[in-house]
Amino acid sequence: MRILVLAPFGRNADVLCRVVGDGGMACTVCRDVDELIGEMKLGAGVIVLTTEALQPTTVERFGAVLDDQPGWSDLPLIVFADDRELLQSEANQLAMFRRSGSVMLLGRPARAFTLLTVLQSALRARSRQYEIRDLLERELNARRDAEQLNQIKDEFLATVSHELGTPLSAILLWTRLAMSGRVPAAELPAAIEHIHRSACAQSKLIDDLLDLARITAGKLVIVPTQTELAPAVEGAIDVVRPSAGAKRVRLELAIDPAAGTVSADLNRMQQVVWNVLSNAVKFTAAGGSIRVSLQREDDHVRLQVSDTGRGISPDFIAHVFEPFRQENASSTRPHAGLGLGLSIAKQLVELHGGTISAESAGAMKGTTFLIRLPLVRP
Ligand SMILES: Nc1ncnc2c1ncn2[C@@H]1O[C@H](COP(=O)(O)OP(=O)(O)O)[C@@H](O)[C@H]1O
Ligand SMILES: [Mg+2]
Repeated sequence: MRILVLAPFGRNADVLCRVVGDGGMACTVCRDVDELIGEMKLGAGVIVLTTEALQPTTVERFGAVLDDQPGWSDLPLIVFADDRELLQSEANQLAMFRRSGSVMLLGRPARAFTLLTVLQSALRARSRQYEIRDLLERELNARRDAEQLNQIKDEFLATVSHELGTPLSAILLWTRLAMSGRVPAAELPAAIEHIHRSACAQSKLIDDLLDLARITAGKLVIVPTQTELAPAVEGAIDVVRPSAGAKRVRLELAIDPAAGTVSADLNRMQQVVWNVLSNAVKFTAAGGSIRVSLQREDDHVRLQVSDTGRGISPDFIAHVFEPFRQENASSTRPHAGLGLGLSIAKQLVELHGGTISAESAGAMKGTTFLIRLPLVRP
């Protein structure tokens, strides 16, 4: 909303600024058209100038800056001109001003109140333009967000179909073979185990989808009791131990069984810890290790899960707890999953009044998840 003044000759600028100052406003005086163009880039509410301020050589450049305005902008110009110039305004530099649109021509000498009135209405028009600019910006951002969300959801649907489809194919294959009598009796238990494992994987995916639906509807509930957290942590470790062992990923444990009493739904907290631990196993290559520690810290119980795995890039780390988000979401990605585990984990931890956060020094540098739950005061 600055008032930029370009009136290089005589005391024009001084007189102008005094009038503007008496009207309770301030102006920025520019020495020449270059300075004016520089100041315009920093923002201008209105420009006040005298015709002699613009030499034919600079008129074109000034005009080009005005022509370059974004669609919402129609910078008001107040131009002082002599009667003679006003009469032949189509034939001289004033023609350029007409091109810029919002020009008010004032004959000299102008009365102070005329100038102030014109200035105020110019500034009011300018502030309307800024409102439109902000509105456009908000609209644009909203559209961009919506498009991104849409794309993420499309990818998610593809992922869900793929993830549900893979175990289903295995189930169909083994049942078809068994029904046609092509599985030897000795191999039947193995076939049944295969089918069972596939069905469990599907059931786990569906549980996550149901949890997501409950979160979206605000209907996810926990049933807390006063308890140590260690049983939930140990339960989750027992579940991932076989897959960690199969992958030759070492588990290092430092679990304090009496870290402190928290108010927790043990099943739900086991789900949280399992989510974090299974990610650690999934994203750590053979020969790596995962360290799990549970201890008291001030008035909190603190669970830390650190892995030596592939790490999370700085661009992605802010998004790990958002639903559907996976650093590698392409259909050729090497790791399975719906991208829901951490978002569900975060909701659950927050329902417990706790916090969860992620840290990584970057790609291939490992990841640490930290969960804190408040201790129950005796
Ligand atoms: N320990 C980890 N190491 C590296 N990346 C991780 C780790 N944990 C989570 N991530 C990243 O966060 C994403 C989201 O995790 P999550 O919500 O559990 O979904 P999913 O496991 O189904 O991909 C993962 O796809 C991965 O990109
Ligand atoms: Mg996961």
